[in-house]
Parts: sequence; structure tokens; C-alpha cells
Amino acid sequence: MSYKILEGKKGIVFGALDKKSIAWKTAETIVDSGGEIVLTNAPIAIRMGNIVELSKQLDSPIIPADATSVKDLQNLINKSIEYFNGKIDFVLHSIGMSVNVRKGKNYTDLNYDWLTKGWDISAVSFHKLLQILHKSKAMNEWGSILALTYIAAQRTFPNYNDMAENKAYLESIARSFGYFFGKDYKVRINTISQSPTLTKAGEGVKGLDGFLKYSEKMSPLGNASAEDCAKYIVMMFSDYTKKVSLQNLYHDGGFSSVGVSQEIINSI
Ligand SMILES: NC(=O)c1ccc[n+]([C@@H]2O[C@H](COP(=O)([O-])OP(=O)(O)OC[C@H]3O[C@@H](n4cnc5c(N)ncnc54)[C@H](O)[C@@H]3O)[C@@H](O)[C@H]2O)c1
Repeated sequence: MSYKILEGKKGIVFGALDKKSIAWKTAETIVDSGGEIVLTNAPIAIRMGNIVELSKQLDSPIIPADATSVKDLQNLINKSIEYFNGKIDFVLHSIGMSVNVRKGKNYTDLNYDWLTKGWDISAVSFHKLLQILHKSKAMNEWGSILALTYIAAQRTFPNYNDMAENKAYLESIARSFGYFFGKDYKVRINTISQSPTLTKAGEGVKGLDGFLKYSEKMSPLGNASAEDCAKYIVMMFSDYTKKVSLQNLYHDGGFSSVGVSQEIINSI
């Protein structure tokens, strides 16, 4: 059952690549909840993925943007305002990529050019996006901006590699820019720290399968799925969460607060 809690709200969804993407499920849930969206992804991802199918399904336009390009992002914001015939109420940054992870480099043997590229895509892109939204006065009052993150920003998960630093940086940007957006425009910024999820980005992490099983056993409610995450995001975009800001919100079935579970002890 869907509640139309986003009726009248308009926003941008980054990062829908294929049906497994958290952004894909979120786009569907937003539209189901009465919201209107513009979809965006990097030009190469639009060619390689299935976002055109989603665009047709939801009757939502795609405006391409490489999230590392200030020019592309500015164009995306200008065109979205034109399309909506007004300002924006919500934005989802659902972007992550580490070249070192992709190429199987160990954390103790990082390639720094690749590290810089991954940092730009996964973390600095969020600052670029926020800076453009802020300078362009593009957000409506009581708007909501979210980025997706992972608990490796706080705790060590060896195979998460340099993405751990990228997520720590991303979460810090949400707090720092959240201050200015709150003061200047009454807009909230948060990060959602999601359970491990089987997606294209997730598959890149060595041993994801073991990861998923481990966190399932550790979390009192079990892992949160991409569909669960989509619903949480919709609530964070709705007027029911107007005063939640500068937070890193764990959406992980309770994983982040558990020291050890009986299932893990039993499995030793
Ligand atoms: N899958 C997990 O286990 C998990 C857990 C916690 C957080 N997250 C985060 O959720 C977010 C979404 O990832 P996902 O798991 O849905 O995987 P996904 O692979 O479906 O999504 C990642 C997206 O990033 C996009 N992207 C990469 N480079 C880009 C660029 N230069 N410009 C614009 N877009 C670019 C890709 O095209 C893709 O659509 C990421 O931030 C990821 O780190 C994922």
C-alpha cells in the first residue's frame, strides 16, 4: 500500500543503473508516493545500463550528467528547474565507484590516480552538486537532500578498501554543507548508511556474499533491502522529517549497535 506523502514534490534521482540499483527502487517508490522526478546518470551508464526503460516506465525524463563535471551538474539543475517549472524539493545522490576496488588493488597497494578518481566520483561530486544547488538557489524551503553511505566510514571492513575514506568524506560534507543549507534555505541534508545490498556497486566488493550473510546474522531485523531503503528515503523526503538534518542515519536492521549476536557465536 502506498501513501501519497510526496504529492506535489519534485526532485532529482542520481544513480539508477539497473533494476538492482537502490536508486531504481527509490525512483519507483517516489513516483508511487506521488512525487515527480528527473532521472540522471553518467552518459556511459545511460548507454550501458537500463535507465531508459525506467524513464519510460515512470514517464520521467533523463538528463545526463557526469557527477564529477561542474558543467554537467549546472546544466542538470538548470534543465530540471525548467522541466519542473519551479524549484526542487528533494535530491538523492546514489553514486559510488572505486577504481582500486574495480581493478582488484589491495588497500596496502593503492594506485593514487585511481584513488583520486574514485574520491571525486564518490565524495567530491556531492560537494559539487550541493555548491551548485546552493549558488543557484535551486531548492525550495524545507527541501531534503540525501546521499547513501556505508558503515565502513566508522568501522574497518578490509575489502571495502579506499571506499571507506570516500564514505567518511561524503558524510562530513553532508554535515558541513547541511549547516549552510539549513541556515540559508531551511533545507536538510543527511546521509543514509545502508545494509550491504546486492547491486552492481556492491558486487565490486570482494567477498560480498560472505558480508551479506554475516550482517544478516548480526542484525536483529536482518539486512535492509533496496526496497526497504527506498521507503526510508521517501519518508526522509516527506514533510514528516522536516527537522532531521546533519545526521548519518543507520538503515541496517540494527547492525550498527550490535557487538555480537548469538547466531554468530553459534557459527564459530
Ligand atoms: N550496495 C551496497 O551494498 C551499498 C551499501 C551501502 C551504501 N551503498 C551506496 O549506495 C549508492 C548506490 O549504489 P548501488 O548499490 O545502488 O549500486 P549501483 O551500481 O546500482 O549504483 C551506483 C551508481 O553510481 C553511478 N555513477 C558512477 N560514476 C558516476 C559518475 N561519474 N557520474 C554519475 N553517476 C555515476 C553508476 O552509474 C550507478 O548508477 C552508492 O553510493 C553506494 O556506495 C551501497
